[in-house]
Amino acid sequence: MGHNLLKNKKGLIFGALNDLSIAWKVAERAHDEGAEIVLTNTPIALRMGTIDELAQKISAKVIAADATKISDLEELFKQTMEHFGGKVDFILHSIGMSPNVRKKIPYDDINYENFLKTIDISAISFHKMIQVAKKFDAINEWGSIVALTYIAAQRTLFEYNDMADAKAALESIARSFGYIYGRQKRIRINTISQSPTPTTAGMGVKGFSGLMDFTERMSPLGNASAQECAAYCITLFSDLTRKVTMQNLYHDGGFSSMGMSARAMEMYNKSLECKDCKENPLNKTE
Ligand SMILES: NC(=O)c1ccc[n+]([C@@H]2O[C@H](COP(=O)([O-])OP(=O)(O)OC[C@H]3O[C@@H](n4cnc5c(N)ncnc54)[C@H](O)[C@@H]3O)[C@@H](O)[C@H]2O)c1
Repeated sequence: MGHNLLKNKKGLIFGALNDLSIAWKVAERAHDEGAEIVLTNTPIALRMGTIDELAQKISAKVIAADATKISDLEELFKQTMEHFGGKVDFILHSIGMSPNVRKKIPYDDINYENFLKTIDISAISFHKMIQVAKKFDAINEWGSIVALTYIAAQRTLFEYNDMADAKAALESIARSFGYIYGRQKRIRINTISQSPTPTTAGMGVKGFSGLMDFTERMSPLGNASAQECAAYCITLFSDLTRKVTMQNLYHDGGFSSMGMSARAMEMYNKSLECKDCKENPLNKTE
């Protein structure tokens, strides 16, 4: 049940691929809260995914755009403003992709063309989208921009690869542009650092189920789901958070403040009891 937190607001949501996507849950929740939505994704994602189902459910318009292409973004903002008959109030950047992760190329043997693509798709697209929005003056005063990120920007996590570097850049762009857009147009820009979540992108990270189990054990409130992430996004799009900007906000059940928990220690101790580990503890390290 909604609370009309986004009544009369209009939003542009990037990154809904299928019903596992965090952006999908955000779009549904924003609709429940009274917002009108335009959905966007790449032409291939529109073909391979199920975004039309979502669009029908929430009466949203779908506009294809590759977020790395300025011409696509210009057309997207133009069509979105035409559709709404005016500016938008909030934007969600829910985009991430690393060809190195996808092809399981390790960080210490990285392919640099792939690396550039990772950074372009997962971080610079955020700058591009904000820069185009600003040039088109496409966002109302006190509008809100949110991008989704991950704690690998601050701490090294096994197998997150070049996405860690992309997320560090993404969070920095939120601060750098947040200053300019806040000062000039009173528009806020934040990133939400979400728990591991079983989506198409999430499950593409090697060892994902082990990681989810670990963070679940480490977090006093447990992992945050995609639906819970959507609820947090709504607060940032609403007028209740007008003075929150340039922040990286953890939405992870407390994981980011933990060092070791009883539940994780219990599991670790169990693994130490295994015969092979006892005989040869270094065998198991990586
Ligand atoms: N799933 C997790 O564990 C997790 C945790 C923290 C943060 N995040 C972040 O959440 C965001 C959404 O990912 P998700 O987990 O919902 O997975 P997802 O696979 O559902 O969404 C990723 C989206 O990025 C889109 N995309 C890729 N290249 C694009 C481009 N060039 N232009 C426009 N869109 C493009 C894809 O089409 C897809 O819709 C990503 O930024 C991801 O890094 C995910």
